[in-house]
Amino acid sequence: MIKNIWIDTDPGIDDALALIWAIQQEELLQWKIQGISTVKGNLSLAQINGNTLALLEHLNRTDIPLYAGAAQGLVQNVRDASYVHGTALGPFDIAPLEHLSDKRAPEALAETLRALKDPLTLVTLGPLTNIAIFLRLYPELMHKIDHIYMMGGGTYGNVSHYAEFNIYVDPEAAKMVFDSGIPITMSGLDISDEYAYIYVEEFPQYLELAKNPWTRALMEFYLTFHKNFEERKMALYDPTVMVAAAYPEFFEKYSSPVSVELQGQARGMTLIPRRPTFEAPFPAHISTQVLEKCSREEFLQKLFKGL
Ligand code: BDR
Ligand code: CA
Repeated sequence: MIKNIWIDTDPGIDDALALIWAIQQEELLQWKIQGISTVKGNLSLAQINGNTLALLEHLNRTDIPLYAGAAQGLVQNVRDASYVHGTALGPFDIAPLEHLSDKRAPEALAETLRALKDPLTLVTLGPLTNIAIFLRLYPELMHKIDHIYMMGGGTYGNVSHYAEFNIYVDPEAAKMVFDSGIPITMSGLDISDEYAYIYVEEFPQYLELAKNPWTRALMEFYLTFHKNFEERKMALYDPTVMVAAAYPEFFEKYSSPVSVELQGQARGMTLIPRRPTFEAPFPAHISTQVLEKCSREEFLQKLFKGL
């Protein structure tokens, strides 16, 4: 059966790699990308819109509907991550673009869900602002989303000591999504840092498998940022969750309720209480599958063959 997919994203280099992988292999993976929505995260919304549209043009897939989403978080507007991702799309100098469709992401997602007979799977690669707004505006359509594959969170942080970037940018939105009861698979920092990463030295070997010329340019740009790190490795965050959406059985997971800390120095941290205690149990519907392990070699093969 063809799976309906919606991707919410903030390209961003690893977002771009995940999008290339998902779009190029649409037929092979037997999914239909019903829409892509953008959200302020790695860069400004205008820049992210420009990057996504340029990518769709490069892939010759401007037939995939693209909708602009939220230009800032629900209650805050934090810095972007251009210090990692460049001021446009890594090495590519792409002009920002403000206007796409008049329809904004939450409304477009609602219309798509209404029109679909079968359920839709969401893959989120950025902050969860659009999804939270959608949940507030259209709660009656929530049941048509069968699963959310989310890149976000972890047992530690990468922006602050405690918070991962996508959750840090909009913790209130993330909490609403975790609390929604929609089945979620969370691909946090841990799985990519420990299993879904590539060493700088391995890059030429795997790049042999990739076909798209943008892949090399994007990776080379990203690698220059990671080359000076002691470990000389690059975690592939957004590609990890995309591979999980396509091959859920490939990963070992554990199940836990997940919530988000909203206060103090751990604001934006995902709380993952794996062990039951004498406290009242969490509501049964709030259970998240957290990706835990995979074969690194097989992951890299799967990924690069689709890039
Ligand atoms: C996440 O933050 C962004 O910078 C990346 O695109 C990824 O989605 C990793 O923390
Ligand atoms: Ca991202």
